[in-house]
Amino acid sequence: MALNLMLMGLPGAGKGTQAEKIVDQYHIPHISTGDIFRAAMKNNTPMGIEAKSYIDKGELVPDEVTNGIVKERLAKDDVNDGYMLDGFPRNMAQAEALETFGAELGKPLNCVINIHVDPESLMERLTGRYICRNCGATYHKIFNPTKVEGTCDRCGEHEFYQREDDKPETVKNRLDVNIKMNTPLLDFYKKQGILHEVDGNQDIDKVFADIKAVLDQIN
Ligand code: AP5
Ligand code: MG
Repeated sequence: MALNLMLMGLPGAGKGTQAEKIVDQYHIPHISTGDIFRAAMKNNTPMGIEAKSYIDKGELVPDEVTNGIVKERLAKDDVNDGYMLDGFPRNMAQAEALETFGAELGKPLNCVINIHVDPESLMERLTGRYICRNCGATYHKIFNPTKVEGTCDRCGEHEFYQREDDKPETVKNRLDVNIKMNTPLLDFYKKQGILHEVDGNQDIDKVFADIKAVLDQIN
């Protein structure tokens, strides 16, 4: 069975960090709506300019825009044997849209992993995050630094950046917005019997071991 996976978790829970490891192990395409928006913002496309006005405030980009992007992406052939959504769906309207187009495309979601982290630790995770400008690998100045200072473990390049929306003022609103949406989504997937909870308060490799145990069981 194709693994049609969604990684859920509040901002900073570790979705992107775990997604890198899942891609290495299971070779399924990683679809992060946040990454898609950041690429469009970098290239100053009309969609990127629109998205920026929401992202800079820590608000959600409107559902019509986001649903359209994911629907188009899931229509591609490279996800016929599985995919991993990261950061989508984020509210019930998006979840319902995915139900419809996932079924139409014959690629319905069949596994949701919720990485649960105590909200108090998320601010520190986000404000200490840095990212490789070349390959996008994610690090943290205390919890997950590069092995050699100033050199990306993954690609060997030396330039890093911090996300604009990781400023403390924006992080606070991002957390508030996402916490509100989270519970109904969890209930929705729990009722479908496809929700798996993983404790994200552990170190990165332990979180991955727990995710792997879930995936190996259903794969
Ligand atoms: P998006 O890019 O998805 O941001 P997010 O949901 O806020 O999540 P993050 O990427 O910040 O966190 P993460 O869970 O990936 O954590 P990471 O692994 O990096 O979305 C950005 C914006 O785009 C949204 O605010 C919204 O405006 C818009 N958007 C996106 N999707 C949308 C949608 N569906 N609808 C509408 N709008 C949408 O880890 C964080 C840090 O912690 C890193 O430094 C990492 O090294 C560290 N870390 C990770 N795991 C651990 C661990 N176990 N222990 C200690 N440190 C750890
Ligand atoms: Mg992320």
